[in-house]
Amino acid sequence: MEPFVVLARPALVDAASRLEGFAGALTLDNYYGPEATRLSEFPAVRTILLEPDPILVDHFAAVAGPRIVDYRIVLLRPGVDGAPMLQTPHYQFDGGLPAAPAAPVGKDAALALTSKVIGFLTDVEMSYLWDLESSAPGGYRLEIGSWCGKSASLLSSLCRAEGTKLFCVDQWVDRQGDLPWDFYNQFVATMPRPVQGRLMDVFLYQAALYGYLDTLIPLRTRSERVLPLLQTDFGFMFIDADHNYASVKRDALCAIGRLQRGGIVAFHDSNDYFPDVREFLEQEFVRRTDFEFVGQRDSMMAFRKLA
Ligand SMILES: C[S@@+](CC[C@H](N)C(=O)[O-])C[C@H]1O[C@@H](n2cnc3c(N)ncnc32)[C@H](O)[C@@H]1O
Repeated sequence: MEPFVVLARPALVDAASRLEGFAGALTLDNYYGPEATRLSEFPAVRTILLEPDPILVDHFAAVAGPRIVDYRIVLLRPGVDGAPMLQTPHYQFDGGLPAAPAAPVGKDAALALTSKVIGFLTDVEMSYLWDLESSAPGGYRLEIGSWCGKSASLLSSLCRAEGTKLFCVDQWVDRQGDLPWDFYNQFVATMPRPVQGRLMDVFLYQAALYGYLDTLIPLRTRSERVLPLLQTDFGFMFIDADHNYASVKRDALCAIGRLQRGGIVAFHDSNDYFPDVREFLEQEFVRRTDFEFVGQRDSMMAFRKLA
């Protein structure tokens, strides 16, 4: 196993330290101490992230952000005899996480999988998102705003085929401010019991259930905190987080600095329901000379970077 760094409560670091590859830990005790400083010696950080938690991830991004090349979530807890067990921490799926099915091959199979994941993309948008990602240059993909993972499930299908990764930035607060309670409660009721009501758990559970968890690099934090720290270039970006004018503008301007030449950025919800997104794109983004308009289907609008 490659060296990994653990981000955890002190009680769990002991279990993690027995795994091959253990290279250090950040805990609540040493966040600002010498251990945290020593992390910068690692050429590349792979993290085992215990108990996804916004405070932990925010802090990790601040300390180790520029060195993140890849990390994955492996949930871990001490077993009965003290031996480390790779398992889910504070929630228990019956029999552990579901075994990952084979990756879907081709557009139709990917669309069939994505249509099972709860979310807001129309069929036309799903199909267009696939086409846009397929026509983008290779390399990492970035999604800002993942919610339960509908778009992530689609984008990750191509990532799996091409051996690349999808960074998913989301704060995963349990109820988004603009989501009506009725809708949220209805949605929660459809979720498997172990993950009911916890948004990031729903995201992770569905990713495991449908087999794309390993393709994801989830960054649980606010976009404005992590985007300036990313040192990775991306061939494709999908922006679907906060839809007010200032936020979509901030996310876009911050992210596109990391878009490769020829790379594509797609925006969701450019429509009457979210007029700020449409206004930002129509009044500002289309005027840019370093991007060309690629197209629009339903509320999805895409641009290609020229320079
Ligand atoms: C419309 S949903 C994303 C839907 C998703 N792309 C899909 O296909 O179902 C918007 C998401 O953006 C997240 N979000 C909003 N503002 C954010 C911010 N500043 N930083 C990180 N995530 C944010 C919310 O938590 C929410 O999960």
